[in-house]
Amino acid sequence: MTPLPDRSRLSWGVASAAYQVEGAATEDGRGPSIWDTFAARPGAVVDGSDGAVACDSYHRLDEDVELVAGLGVDHYRFSIAWPRVQPSGSGAVEPRGLDYYQRLVDRLLERDIAPMATLYHWDLPQPLEDADGWVNRDTSARFADYAALVHERLGDRVGLWATHNEPWCAAYVGYGSGRHAPGRQLGDRTHVTAHHLLLGHGLAATRLHDAGADAVGIVLNLTPVWPDRPEAAEVADGVDAIRNRIWLGPLVDGAYDDGTLKVAPVLADPSVVRDGDLALVRGSADWLGVNYYTPARVDLVSAGSTTETASAGSTGVAEPAETTGGDAGVEEFPGVAPFRFTPRPPLTDIGWEVEPRGLEELLVETHRRTGLPLLVTEHGAAFPDTTRTAEGEVDDQDRVGYLSDHIAAVERAREQGADVRGYVLWTLMDNFEWAEGYTKYFGIVHVDRDTLVRTPKASYHWYAERVRASREP
Ligand code: FCB
Repeated sequence: MTPLPDRSRLSWGVASAAYQVEGAATEDGRGPSIWDTFAARPGAVVDGSDGAVACDSYHRLDEDVELVAGLGVDHYRFSIAWPRVQPSGSGAVEPRGLDYYQRLVDRLLERDIAPMATLYHWDLPQPLEDADGWVNRDTSARFADYAALVHERLGDRVGLWATHNEPWCAAYVGYGSGRHAPGRQLGDRTHVTAHHLLLGHGLAATRLHDAGADAVGIVLNLTPVWPDRPEAAEVADGVDAIRNRIWLGPLVDGAYDDGTLKVAPVLADPSVVRDGDLALVRGSADWLGVNYYTPARVDLVSAGSTTETASAGSTGVAEPAETTGGDAGVEEFPGVAPFRFTPRPPLTDIGWEVEPRGLEELLVETHRRTGLPLLVTEHGAAFPDTTRTAEGEVDDQDRVGYLSDHIAAVERAREQGADVRGYVLWTLMDNFEWAEGYTKYFGIVHVDRDTLVRTPKASYHWYAERVRASREP
């Protein structure tokens, strides 16, 4: 029987990612990742913090599994840190790293929670970055070897596998704007990293399938792209190409479409996209993970616009992340003409527009486009969490409202025929939010930064009740 949840009802889950929660960055043989290196760079992370301790989940595994179990969810989505199980990114395996994930998986199974393992949530082993990271085609092959060795250990107990988390971020935020690790700005060469991430997915999926896995997916942060006016249609098409079609084209059709090649001509270079690459990627995903936070509204940059355009150069406009739904501007969209993001209120604490209709539209459209079983693999919101209950717990009614409205949107998409099998909330607990450090709270469990004590928020209790109520006949 496939480990994919069936279509009859929506399954539930909660998510985390290794670098954001584990800590223990130098323990039990773990090697450095690009995030350790990047976070040490002055100014890279707003509060100068890093994931060296994070939520210390490496040492609090039992406690965290109990928190997941308290929600009554079907799935726990976590990621495996490549540098923990293969510190150099190739060659020698660190069994203590694998032991940790095996313990985690076994605890989950004891509590009747199905593990959903993501193999790459952005923590590339530093030695691979020293050899040019995802710019180097060889990294794709190294990723497939790593995927196979993890599956060899855990494949008897983990059924649901995701190769990459949000390769758009890994490529364009990591190598385009450099807001994320490894913090490089490669301009048009960034598209090469996107191809190598896809190739890595294809190679890894092949190895997992050969080893007997039948529920291998990839997690994409797809987004609806809405031009503010007809004249912005062309830039919107470019943004759509880089956010959505550059991934879905190879996965579904085995091709980059013409609009994608227009913004990324390097992908027509046969020394980059080699014979057989796209055929390998086509059909390689058994399911698709969709992470959704906000839609992308785009407009042209016109005279009299309030946006600073002068310093941005020919490729576009740099905007602060907090006004752009997290997209810092066009270094993350090389090849697209100058444009700006125009999020509309209400915005969350990280500046992302709240618009449940975007999720509904995205799921219906992605179903139509791909025909694949879909899982919402991340969805959640940052709020300031300043209100407390009489008992001193975070009273995050804003988050509750946000989650509830979006879950209703998922249900509407299902009613329209979209094959959405599951909803996975981001995130279990407040954690290291990448370049935002510990300043943005997405968790449904509060974590005290000094003591690391975990305290459920109102949203945690609400979610547990929502899950329970959904199972009533
Ligand atoms: C996504 C990431 C996840 C988390 C959320 C807020 O882009 O996959 O790790 O940071 O955003």
